[in-house]
Amino acid sequence: MNLKGRSFLTLKDYTPEEILYLLDLAAELKAKKKQGITGNSLKGKNIALIFEKPSTRTRCAFTIGCIDEGGHAEYLGKDDIQLGYKESVEDTARVLGRMFDGIEFRGFSQENVEKLAKYSGVPVWNGLTDTYHPTQILADFLTMREHLGELAGKKLVFVGDGRNNMANSLMIGCAKVGVHFTILAPSSLWPEQSLVELCKEYAKASGSVITITEDLDGVKGADAVYTDVWCSMGEEDKAAERVALLRPYQVNAELLSRTGKDSTIFLHCLPAVKGNEVTADVFEKYADVVFDEAENRMHTIKAVMVATLGEYDR
Ligand code: CP
Ligand code: NVA
Repeated sequence: MNLKGRSFLTLKDYTPEEILYLLDLAAELKAKKKQGITGNSLKGKNIALIFEKPSTRTRCAFTIGCIDEGGHAEYLGKDDIQLGYKESVEDTARVLGRMFDGIEFRGFSQENVEKLAKYSGVPVWNGLTDTYHPTQILADFLTMREHLGELAGKKLVFVGDGRNNMANSLMIGCAKVGVHFTILAPSSLWPEQSLVELCKEYAKASGSVITITEDLDGVKGADAVYTDVWCSMGEEDKAAERVALLRPYQVNAELLSRTGKDSTIFLHCLPAVKGNEVTADVFEKYADVVFDEAENRMHTIKAVMVATLGEYDR
């Protein structure tokens, strides 16, 4: 599989085979790292890490993943560069493309990450926008594979803000690789109909079933229950409204019991607001899985960089 030179902006751009290839590569790189083996596939490569929004996992995953493979990562925080206010995105992209071999972008606008890719001429990786968070899905899928086995045919239920970046990206990823996907959310927080229709098209090919519902019994049969914060970065003014709307959708012991299964795992992209989207007891019960998922950000992000920029033979 040759992904050399490709950007990673949304999972819409990747085939199921390419997504599964990235998971296999991540598993291989993870196994090597556990044996103390790192590589040189990014030797001589410089990558820019642009962060308009804060980050713990994504920033560290790109930094460590790059250094592990012999590259250099340069952090560019929101106050460090002129992007978007003193200099256009197009011009910043053309400058960075002359100096760097790859660019990670975390920010508000999906349009901006796409412009960076168009104008920089180097691979650009989406480290989260308001609309999508595609690298997170790779970590989620690797974690599901480790804990549940093969992905196709499993059922994942996302509970909470059903129109945020995580819900959107999980829906695309699940539809592509054949994971049955349910969004459990109040109807005012359902995803855009056009995206649901697109995912249903992907699902036809993979055999996945996509369901959007307000009914808490939608968790029945779930192999994995997933939640995320009720207010994403940049939506802090919506806090009171969201708490009122989403309180019935908290992932707690009662909700989990509705899966009817003892084997269900709980996933969270983190950071978590315990007492809101998940209770502290549920979080702690599944802490090993959730922190595997956090660790897997590094192995999967490394795989994306290695596949699109590195010299690596499998
Ligand atoms: N899950 C995730 O993207 O975490 P950070 O916001 O800490 O990068
Ligand atoms: N929906 C969250 C995800 C954080 C990883 C946010 O955008 O803040």
